Amino acid sequence: MQAAPAPVGGRTVLLIVCGGIAAYKTLELIRLLTGAGLRVRTVLTAAGKQFVTPLSLQALTGEKVYEDLFSLTDENEMGHIALSRSGDLLVVCPATADIMARMAAGLADDLASTLLLATDKPVLIAPAMNVRMWDHPATQANLATLRARGVMVVGPEIGLMACNETGPGRLAEPPVIAEAIFHHLPGPAPVVPATGPLAGRHALVTAGPTHEPIDPVRYLANRSSGRQGYEVAQALAALGARVTLVSGPVDLPPPKGITLRRVETARQMLAACRDALPCDIAVCAAAVADWHVAAEATSKIKKTAGAPPPALTLVPNPDILAELSAPGANRPALVIGFAAETDTVAQHAAAKRLAKGCDWIVANDVRPETGIMGGMENEIVLITGEGAEQWPRMGKQDVATHLADRIATFFTPDFSSGRSIS
Ligand code: C5P
Repeated sequence: MQAAPAPVGGRTVLLIVCGGIAAYKTLELIRLLTGAGLRVRTVLTAAGKQFVTPLSLQALTGEKVYEDLFSLTDENEMGHIALSRSGDLLVVCPATADIMARMAAGLADDLASTLLLATDKPVLIAPAMNVRMWDHPATQANLATLRARGVMVVGPEIGLMACNETGPGRLAEPPVIAEAIFHHLPGPAPVVPATGPLAGRHALVTAGPTHEPIDPVRYLANRSSGRQGYEVAQALAALGARVTLVSGPVDLPPPKGITLRRVETARQMLAACRDALPCDIAVCAAAVADWHVAAEATSKIKKTAGAPPPALTLVPNPDILAELSAPGANRPALVIGFAAETDTVAQHAAAKRLAKGCDWIVANDVRPETGIMGGMENEIVLITGEGAEQWPRMGKQDVATHLADRIATFFTPDFSSGRSIS
């Protein structure tokens, strides 16, 4: 059953549309935002006006479009300082190399840059530009400056661009940007009508490490950040799935619009997964500890001078992925595991797929020099019943988006998001 859009308490997105060929996608973005019950007020730069017309923006938002810093009428109705604070979230889409540079430099020479300098509200940018412009040290330095100031970023994606070059620089797809807006908008997430290819499907995702207690103050853990699992959960939700995320202890904000079950140990993770059944899709991205301490001390183990250190006896943890993959009435239609390997990645992962009984394995190389474990990027090999597919190195958000696309295609073979992997 599809959820009706929830009232969103009059929350407003101030959308700044800059000049780039991807600007046409903002029209679809506006439709998704207003469909979720948000009010959208737009600001169009002079360059943006070359790509979309004020009339289209006005027709879709039902609101006046702001273009001119020095408009006497606009200033009379709502001064630019008031305008900069009139939205709950400012979104720059597409964010060109130029606006990013002007934001980083603190310029205020047109309405858009002035609003971005004057605002006291959170800012989200969706960059889109040629791959060389994106990779240029100047843009990367501006990006780092903006991030350090708390500006949030969605995309860009890797793919073929209007300039016929391929690489990072493509504007994130409107549903992905909409999802990021719902996530970063202060207050409760709007309930978006489930319309994507995974609408009506329930997805269970595990993420993060587990902590296995030794005594009340010590535990065994690993370096998993949980980022990849959280991104997968969001990407599945963006395609319309109802998502339950079972997460070990991580330092990540709870994703909006997703049911989050926080756990500490592998045994608790298994129990939470069992509770979440039935589901159509299970993605086990958690780095579950292989063992727990056989006899957890109920009080802090004391260090006694001269005495040998205590010996820890470890016993195996339940294998959640193997249990979810086991044949039975509650087996999800598609079960996906992750394999963190340090050598002969594809071979080990293919063997793991068979050993665990899951349908697909997302394998990655976690040798410390790859920087993948705990990092922002990932380079994966997708192992399915048909064979192994090497994906180029990309951000964990992109891996999640492409994986979600593949999952959607599994359920709806003629589904295409239009996103290509390389
Ligand atoms: O056996 P290994 O830890 O290499 O397997 C990795 C895959 O199995 C991951 O998908 C992980 O989430 C899952 N797993 C699990 N329960 C365990 C161990 C691993 O679900 N106890």
